[in-house]
Amino acid sequence: MKARISGTGSFAPPAVMTNADLEKIVDTSDEWIITRTGIRERRIASEDMTCADMSVEASRRALEMAGCDPKDIDLVICGTITPDYRLPSNACILQEEIGFPNAVGFDVAAACAGFISALSVANAYIATGQHKRALVVGAEKLSSMTNYSDRNTCVLFGDAAGAVVVEACDSGHGVLSSCLRSNGSYRPWLWAKTGGCKYPYTPDFTFDGSDKIYMNGSDVFKVAVREMGAAANRVIADAGLTAADIALFVPHQANVRIIDAMAKRIGLPREKVYVNIDRYGNTSSASVPLALDEANRQGRIKPGDHVVMVAFGGGLIWGAALVKW
Ligand code: ACO
Repeated sequence: MKARISGTGSFAPPAVMTNADLEKIVDTSDEWIITRTGIRERRIASEDMTCADMSVEASRRALEMAGCDPKDIDLVICGTITPDYRLPSNACILQEEIGFPNAVGFDVAAACAGFISALSVANAYIATGQHKRALVVGAEKLSSMTNYSDRNTCVLFGDAAGAVVVEACDSGHGVLSSCLRSNGSYRPWLWAKTGGCKYPYTPDFTFDGSDKIYMNGSDVFKVAVREMGAAANRVIADAGLTAADIALFVPHQANVRIIDAMAKRIGLPREKVYVNIDRYGNTSSASVPLALDEANRQGRIKPGDHVVMVAFGGGLIWGAALVKW
């Protein structure tokens, strides 16, 4: 049994933050942001819109496309680093909001690799027969973790959610190969250091930005290109395919220069690479399912197509999945 994607959905909050808006907040320029990252604008959730709210919208759209009754979902996995609460999980909130009476739900915290990790877990459960139909979500309210006085990071991030329904399938369609890897020794390059039990918010805590995302961008950049390229090549080889067999490549949208360098390493022409970073920036766990849903709804993916998804994030953690549509 393989996990076949039967529906995709996504949601981005309506409010747009442009590069011109950021020029008013930090010492940056539209020209720098576009040439160094490819980002023109990103979406920002309103104060009262949570990560779970966005996930509910994306999930409803995926369930509708799949024609799936929520009572038939038996597994809900959310990739997120910005859950509504420290406890319980966003997956349990979704279970209650949408109504999945026959499911178990839990979250996966793998930063920008959250969706790929959650998909890989769902695929493993389906392959063993333990579960039959899963909702897999990647969603972030990254604006809640962004330091809007740090120009190195605040120009990069946005809010969104994406979701897929995956179902057990024995006809050869679904996840053909996947891989996940991490290296915890790189963690000071990309982290939100305080607020956990090691550095809790005590009454005399000073909010100096350490509660938000810090990133050593240029070092992360090099590992991202190398490891995402290797992960993509590995899932293509593990499926017994070559780059020429890939119809669409859906990479994590962190930086258009990373995407271009990676596509070159894999040997994929630009027209086979889906890019929407210009409109959303880096939405972490939401990035891949948001791009996948857009590509799907634009008719860029046909039954039988081989689609490669790849992601990379804080941990550092990275992974890829190859799906036969
Ligand atoms: N506007 C203007 N100048 C800036 C800005 C800005 N917004 N940000 C940085 N600069 C400056 C720096 O201060 C530096 O100036 P200096 O040379 O005087 O010191 C100069 O631009 C170059 O800085 P670099 O960091 O070398 O710029 P780089 O070309 O590497 O781009 C970026 C930075 C966009 C962050 C890039 O390194 C990157 O995309 N890194 C990887 C991101 C990634 O993949 N993250 C993983 C997922 S995120 C997650 O898991 C939550």
